[in-house]
Amino acid sequence: MDKYLIKGEKRLKGEVSISGSKNGSLALLAASLLASGKTTFQNVPDLKDVRTMLKMIETLGGKYKFEKNRLEVDTTVLKTVKAPYELVKTMRASIYVLGPLLAREGRAEVSFPGGCILGPRPINIHLESLEKLGADIKVEKGFIKASAKKLKGAEIFVNKASVGATVNILMTSVLAQGTTIVKNAALEPEVGDLIDLLSQMGAKIEGKDADTIYVHGVNKLNPAKNFSVSPDRIETAMFLILGALADSPIKIKNVIPEQVSALTDVLQEIGVDLDISDNSIQVNKVSKLNPVNIKTMVYPGFATDIQPLIAPLLTQIKGVSVIHETIFENRFAYVPELKRMGADIQLDDNVAVIKGPAMLEGTNVMASDIRSGAALVLAALIAKNETVVDRIYHIDRGYEGFENKLLKLGASIKRIKS
Ligand code: UD1
Repeated sequence: MDKYLIKGEKRLKGEVSISGSKNGSLALLAASLLASGKTTFQNVPDLKDVRTMLKMIETLGGKYKFEKNRLEVDTTVLKTVKAPYELVKTMRASIYVLGPLLAREGRAEVSFPGGCILGPRPINIHLESLEKLGADIKVEKGFIKASAKKLKGAEIFVNKASVGATVNILMTSVLAQGTTIVKNAALEPEVGDLIDLLSQMGAKIEGKDADTIYVHGVNKLNPAKNFSVSPDRIETAMFLILGALADSPIKIKNVIPEQVSALTDVLQEIGVDLDISDNSIQVNKVSKLNPVNIKTMVYPGFATDIQPLIAPLLTQIKGVSVIHETIFENRFAYVPELKRMGADIQLDDNVAVIKGPAMLEGTNVMASDIRSGAALVLAALIAKNETVVDRIYHIDRGYEGFENKLLKLGASIKRIKS
């Protein structure tokens, strides 16, 4: 297992360009299965989860060419509707192939998902919603077996405004007969991108960026051309926080500032000076920092994926900051590791109380999911001496060019291959 060796306390400086959204790409790639033919994408990040989704498409019978963030997916022929355990276990978003396969082929067999260990992470909302659209769903030997002679539009209330369930409902209902009304739909930007792609493919969808979406089913979709993936808002957040944490002037380019406004509001409340323009954000000098209270919420609230990333910054602020996690129960996996580096964090159920400032010191730590891995790297970059971050395959899943981007900013980070 590869590790990072990081020497902390380096002054960072420069510009970083944000890659295409990981989460967005996974939904968009799955949606390409809905139409027979060649779909082309731009700005697709080359990272492990995207490669896993491409392997999945290949396993199902599709082909692809992926070079310099340009991707062509050829789904002319699908030879199976079975998404195997070996692929699904490595990435929870594999469940995204369920809807498209069911809609296009009338059946799908998808192994129960694995992925980040963020609590039980059930998929009941996905399955109940597809049943409402007329699917017959059975669970046999660890596989979800879905079939439908005819999918029919329905009114669906999406419990917990689940992002994944909203994605699966949209991808299934576009080819159902009649109108589907999706209530309490997730508002995350990745859903908006998916609606744009589906519309370009010929779907009839009203209500982008609204919590009620109307999908008027059509008989057939066509492949889209040159669909560009939006920048990754979680990667954007990571570099914004890094600038503040390392008190370093960093310009973050190719971003959609509106998509990280919950974070930029918090950073400004903390006392970080930001210049926000149309598609870039500059982190300026940081003066006195104030403690904050953060509660994770569905979009446009403070994203659960960003809370591990901001924790190292909160350890450096004089006073008491609080993080209240409301989406995933196991999002605090980074806490014991940060404590081993010297952070003062009291964890009580889904609330972390962080007392600062703490002197962080390098040691051996271990990533346990994508965002906790990135959080530990952020902490290591300002810690005294050397830190070894183990199990960085988690980081590889979700970030493109991770260490190269940091090296360009002046960080000392080295991958140790095993
Ligand atoms: C997606 C993102 C993830 C992000 C999360 C919340 C991808 C690939 N992943 O995950 O990075 O942190 O949105 O913004 O885009 N739930 C159920 N039953 C279900 C589905 C979800 O109870 O069938 C619960 C979950 O346990 C969680 C909440 O609903 O408590 C929200 O989860 P959801 O929005 O579905 O997250 P994902 O789509 O898995």
